Amino acid sequence: MNTSTALRPIDPAHFRAVMRHLPTGVAAVCATDPDTGAPSGLIVGSFQSLSLEPALVTFSVTHTSTSWPRIARAGQFSVNLLAEGQQPVCAALSSRGEDKFGSLNWYQSGYGTPHIKGSLGWIDCRVEQEIVAGDHLIIIAAVLEMTASEGEPLVFHGGRLGGFRESQAA
Ligand SMILES: Cc1cc2nc3c(=O)[nH]c(=O)nc-3n(C[C@H](O)[C@H](O)[C@H](O)COP(=O)(O)O)c2cc1C
Repeated sequence: MNTSTALRPIDPAHFRAVMRHLPTGVAAVCATDPDTGAPSGLIVGSFQSLSLEPALVTFSVTHTSTSWPRIARAGQFSVNLLAEGQQPVCAALSSRGEDKFGSLNWYQSGYGTPHIKGSLGWIDCRVEQEIVAGDHLIIIAAVLEMTASEGEPLVFHGGRLGGFRESQAA
């Protein structure tokens, strides 16, 4: 491959039209703002496990996010794996409001991070690396503790949120 060839620009609308075919999980990344003590959070569809030993996770965050700088300052944050039916949690935390947590049912964990009730999993993390990648930052974080409950995940696909139902094997 000739790496010196200039990249052909990809139209963002076309980029989105192709990527909408890839289903993702929905995770809420949350922390307690060290300056105000208030909870802060945003929704990411880019959350992934990265490494088992050591236990690392990753996601990407847009450089225009107003919540990420607060979460980064906290250093420690929770990842809440959202369950089917938590569409209102997704709507609240993907909005650009000041009081995103007002309508949410949450409590503070032993790590001082917000945990959203009704989630399928809670992963407490510490920021390890932030890598600039285009108009996003790739965040790499170490897992401090993780717990899970039972249930069906919330899935984002084709621009819509819904539940996941295993298709019947033929
Ligand atoms: C299903 C879904 C997935 C999203 N995935 C991401 C993501 O991976 N990275 C990101 O930066 N924003 C993502 N967003 C958008 C952010 O949640 C939203 O822009 C952000 O919360 C804006 O608020 P802020 O300024 O408080 O950060 C996603 C939104 C939704 C609804």
